[in-house]
Amino acid sequence: MDLYEYQARDLFESHGVPVLRGITVTTAEEAGAAAEQLGTPVVVVKAQVKTGGRGKAGGVKIAKSPAEAAEKAGEILGMDIKGHTVRRVMIAEGADIAEEYYFSLLLDRANRSYLAMCSVEGGMDIEQLAEERPEALAKVEVDPLVGIDRAKADEIVAAANFQEADRDQIAEVLVKLGEVYQAEDATLVEVNPLVKTGEGKIVALDGKVTLDDNASFRQSHHAALQDIAATDRLEVIAQERGLNYVKLDGNVGIIGNGAGLVMSTLDVVAYAGEEFPSKPSPANFLDIGGGANAEVMAAGLDVIFEDEQVKAVLVNVFGGITACDAVANGIVQAYSILSDHGKHPKPLVVRLDGNNADLGRQILDDANLPKLERVDTMDGAARRVAELADQAK
Ligand SMILES: Nc1ncnc2c1ncn2[C@@H]1O[C@H](COP(=O)(O)OP(=O)(O)O)[C@@H](O)[C@H]1O
Ligand SMILES: [Mg+2]
Repeated sequence: MDLYEYQARDLFESHGVPVLRGITVTTAEEAGAAAEQLGTPVVVVKAQVKTGGRGKAGGVKIAKSPAEAAEKAGEILGMDIKGHTVRRVMIAEGADIAEEYYFSLLLDRANRSYLAMCSVEGGMDIEQLAEERPEALAKVEVDPLVGIDRAKADEIVAAANFQEADRDQIAEVLVKLGEVYQAEDATLVEVNPLVKTGEGKIVALDGKVTLDDNASFRQSHHAALQDIAATDRLEVIAQERGLNYVKLDGNVGIIGNGAGLVMSTLDVVAYAGEEFPSKPSPANFLDIGGGANAEVMAAGLDVIFEDEQVKAVLVNVFGGITACDAVANGIVQAYSILSDHGKHPKPLVVRLDGNNADLGRQILDDANLPKLERVDTMDGAARRVAELADQAK
């Protein structure tokens, strides 16, 4: 899960990283009141969207009075920044910036460690800096079992070539950012810019944090950070039911068992769809995992049938430990669970193969379910479901 800047700011503050005061609001009027409350001569109105480059896009503006803060907030709220609509702005204290630096700590999967990156030249596009002048970006490996202790922080500030006089203060901040990373189970903590103010104080001015969802079981307070309103409605429902679901923008619903099989089903359906005038394509990724029982199948079909864009559905299951007859019974029971809830099925193509395939197919044929067709090859099933989706357009 990626956090908004204001959430990263709060997290930083709770771990003792120096940040500026900020108040997050959703209307221009509240923005004026927030500026009044902060009481600093200059405030900055900052769009809260989960994408970088807000400054360049006009989503970060200075205001010198509460009235001006309200006016700027009015301009920024509702703005579209790289496909993200601005629904909140943070009114932050204006910093007197003397210098802008860059710092990030991230998971380095290839090296099975963490990587710290740091530069005395922050603020700008870091990808550009890395490309044009890679020597200006220090890269230091961080042992995941140790994290950023004081010795490591000293190594990073030396590698980045900070002025002698600033090193102590910056190293202290890096240790705290390392604490945020480890204590919160983050996979990314980025501060761009980390600034030195006119008074020589080091402050994190913009924060980007990605939390590791696999650690949510031991980070119960992270659930409150999820922005339900901005998450796709069906993804939220699917998550509540423990399904591995990702919404895509096509019109063919896909259910399979095992991520690899579902991925290849997406490819095969997209390929088959090319043949038809309306070019049907996958509407989602849904992996029901190994134990494809009736409840999981019903929950999966329910989520997919709820998707208005879906015109036809493909269930592609390869029987393994859960054999095809169990899956077929799951589908039959799922149909009756759904009809008990007054829900109507959409055209459904089922392909069963693997363990007990014959038995599974027989169960489906005997059940004679409405709108359900059985096709025994993966390519054939993909072609048929694309055809059904095309006819339904
Ligand atoms: N509180 C602030 N006070 C003064 N200047 C700021 C403040 N916040 C951001 N800025 C300026 O705006 C620039 C862009 O803001 P930032 O928060 O980094 O957004 P983004 O990275 O999305 O463009 C910063 O590099 C900094 O120069
Ligand atoms: Mg930034």
